[in-house]
Amino acid sequence: MAGQLALQGGPRAVAEGLLQPWPYITDADRAAVAEVAAGGDISRQRTAQSQALAAEWAEFVGVRYCLPTCSGTAALHIALAAAGVEPGDEVICPAFTFWATAAAVLHQCAIPVFVDIDRESWNLDPALVEAAITTRTKALLPVHIHGLPANLGPLLEIAQRHGLALLEDACQAHGATWQGRPVGSIGAGAGFSTQMSKCLTTGSEGGLYVTDDEGMYLRGCHLQYFGEAVVPGKERDEQVYNARGLGWMYRGDVFGQAFCRSQLRRLRQSNATRAANAAALSARLQGLPGIETPVEPAGRTSSWYNYVLGVHPESLGIDLPPARFREAVMRALGAEGVPVHQWQRLPVPAQDIFQTKTGFGRGWPWSQVPDADYVYRGEDFPVATDFLARHFYVPGIWPPNDERWIEAVGVAFGKVWEQLDAVVAAAR
Ligand SMILES: Cc1ncc(COP(=O)(O)O)c(C=O)c1O
Repeated sequence: MAGQLALQGGPRAVAEGLLQPWPYITDADRAAVAEVAAGGDISRQRTAQSQALAAEWAEFVGVRYCLPTCSGTAALHIALAAAGVEPGDEVICPAFTFWATAAAVLHQCAIPVFVDIDRESWNLDPALVEAAITTRTKALLPVHIHGLPANLGPLLEIAQRHGLALLEDACQAHGATWQGRPVGSIGAGAGFSTQMSKCLTTGSEGGLYVTDDEGMYLRGCHLQYFGEAVVPGKERDEQVYNARGLGWMYRGDVFGQAFCRSQLRRLRQSNATRAANAAALSARLQGLPGIETPVEPAGRTSSWYNYVLGVHPESLGIDLPPARFREAVMRALGAEGVPVHQWQRLPVPAQDIFQTKTGFGRGWPWSQVPDADYVYRGEDFPVATDFLARHFYVPGIWPPNDERWIEAVGVAFGKVWEQLDAVVAAAR
């Protein structure tokens, strides 16, 4: 017997203070930021850090061009605009993602069309994409959710057959690979986020736009800086203050970029720790009935941004709806000292903005296409809905957490699973 549940007043299974936070910050990261502050000429530093980060990330991904940006959403917006997506065009997105994927489409005054996800990788389901293509479709925007690459083979074929751009939302997938190639190098363009929770981070906010196409890079340069042509490093001297078209202020921040470059030196090592911790955790949890551990389908490696678990009360003979069972289990694990959490609550198309079509006002961008009736219904996405009911996230697979954390999590799950009757009774 594993001892009384913490939920019922027993001692918690996991010692306080064991879980280390992300990002993991070293002296090298601190020194990188301090050097920028000590360097004196901050405008020179701004150019130097941004260019160096661009070169280093392009090399890591295996593309010719990178533009650091102020966010992943900005990087995705640039990718869409640079690929020629225009107002009124449709872009196919997965129904389950962080909604910034679709927000980037709306920022381009284009219209997100949602497609359900598959039951294995929880990414855009290629089998459902063709039915969503119309004469207005311009691009596919798969997301590598949780760090696991989308099923890009069939998506690339569909894009080619229909003359569509394939762009990658790689915001969660730094260092993940598809058929041995880093994500971000497979589509026409991609956006990464370097927001503080991400595998590669500026420690605050930031993003990285990448492409192998010179034209898409040059368009990206204009879009990233007010629509102006800028000679890198000579902004003041050679800026002609003549906007060639609409652009935004989407540049990144110099301190964050210095931090990010320092973190990039450890990205492979840090992703290897995530992968090892994820494998060790799955090995411990696979023996527990009714639990579904995450997979890496053949030909795909994950960045292990998130470790996601599913619960199947039906297979345990427990007649609670999956969401109620998940909540009960989460409460019990939280009490034991494992701060598991839920992420998304709704499929993106079920969120208020798509119910009310509150975009730029006057129904824009949807009202541009009066002959198309865009109706967004959560129930049209049963796999995304079912995913959200059953799944939750286990923190701490990131470094410097190691087998001590994984073992403690395993013990807590074991304790809760031995006393599921009490957990379920508390939920009734
Ligand atoms: C899948 C996905 N897309 C886009 C974004 C947007 O990135 P950012 O927050 O840097 O704008 C995120 C960030 O959380 C994300 O997870």
